[in-house]
Amino acid sequence: MNDKIQVITKHALNKSDETRIKTLTSRALAAKHTLESGSGAGNDFLGWLHLPTSIDEKHLQDIENSAAQLRKDCEFVITIGIGGSYLGAKCVIEALSDHFAAYKPGGTKVLFAGSNIGEDYLYDLMDLVRGHKFGIIVISKSGTTTEPGIAFRLFKDMLEKQEGKEFAMRNIIAVTDAHRGALRGLATQEGYVTYVIPDDVGGRFSVLTPVGLLPIAVAGFDIRALVAGAVEMERDGDEQILNYAIARNVLYQNGKKIEILANFTPRLHYVAEWWKQLYGESEGKQHKGIFPASVDFTTDLHSMGQWIQDGERTIFETVLSVGDQQHEVTIPADEKDLDGLNYIAGKNVDYVNKMAELGTRVAHVDGGVPNLIITMPAVTERYLGQLIYFFEKACGVSGYMLGVNPFDQPGVEDYKRNMFALLNKPGYEEQSAAIRARLKM
Ligand code: PA5
Repeated sequence: MNDKIQVITKHALNKSDETRIKTLTSRALAAKHTLESGSGAGNDFLGWLHLPTSIDEKHLQDIENSAAQLRKDCEFVITIGIGGSYLGAKCVIEALSDHFAAYKPGGTKVLFAGSNIGEDYLYDLMDLVRGHKFGIIVISKSGTTTEPGIAFRLFKDMLEKQEGKEFAMRNIIAVTDAHRGALRGLATQEGYVTYVIPDDVGGRFSVLTPVGLLPIAVAGFDIRALVAGAVEMERDGDEQILNYAIARNVLYQNGKKIEILANFTPRLHYVAEWWKQLYGESEGKQHKGIFPASVDFTTDLHSMGQWIQDGERTIFETVLSVGDQQHEVTIPADEKDLDGLNYIAGKNVDYVNKMAELGTRVAHVDGGVPNLIITMPAVTERYLGQLIYFFEKACGVSGYMLGVNPFDQPGVEDYKRNMFALLNKPGYEEQSAAIRARLKM
């Protein structure tokens, strides 16, 4: 297998697509130019484009030192953030971790909060860390987001009461804007170590800033290899990036309105969650955009498999196909063969999984579901770094091909306005009366 992630389009596009491919190739090249020359909409948010090659030794060392401090003092580190301020770290940590690390002793455990307003979730997490040494990484670019704000207030209060102000000051790190927002003011006042989210990097493109790198380092993973992988894609990934951007836009024009990111590797579940935010927030605008969905196979073949095989033909699949597993497990022979599985005795579990992947591809293509394939040699820091940059740049190109600004998210403000009005937040008095009248409250 190649040492870089690759895009295979032959199960997704065919002869009848030739004209469309030609037109969209020109459009993709123009979009890439717009992106690289910084001449398109949202061009003040392009800091991620050359981020991998701009990260220096001093920055990495600094993050590793902070991570070492948290690992030294803390059994748990609660990473607080939502959307782009948590999904990148969550996806990399989940992809690289032992699936059952939470139940195994040893090592600092990275836990997440502030990505929901679940009272029971917060109660259970507080219950878990009570009486244990814990630290906090609080991440918010705006510094004013409600979900992480509530979680931080709770865990800061708990930590200060449990371990004292001095321990809390040493083991709370804030990642936020250089100047703006309540979190910046609070961090300065309290004397926390802070990291800056660059002005020109939006949340969903921020995984290679301290937003992602710090929690990933705390979890014990190699952020240098992650960044090195992204550098490889920044320097030499354009062919694959364009292949993906062009193919998904051809499919969209063919009426395939939903892209399902499928994996056959359970550790990739959160890669899909990160990807959904990246593409959903970037492209879903002006009543346009491919709807990003995801499935975990073979698990979901037993739930969503029927719909994918036989439901409305508005979907295509992008399969994240992984080469090597980290470990080998061989299926044993059984003399009695009561379960009838001796036909696969002596095979690795992954061999069976690979046959499931091939069988599914043929079935879905035959059923009218084009399959794009992204091959990934293995799930390592390096290949995850490649994948992150690959998806980010393809997203910028694809968004410009669609004719939207891929770097804003005006639509996410609407629910917040209503929520603040209903919570009687100061400044929302007028909206409060209006929404209460509409809801007959
Ligand atoms: O991608 C984005 O811009 C959003 O998902 C934000 O990251 C998310 O809303 C969190 O915002 P903030 O970091 O300001 O708390």
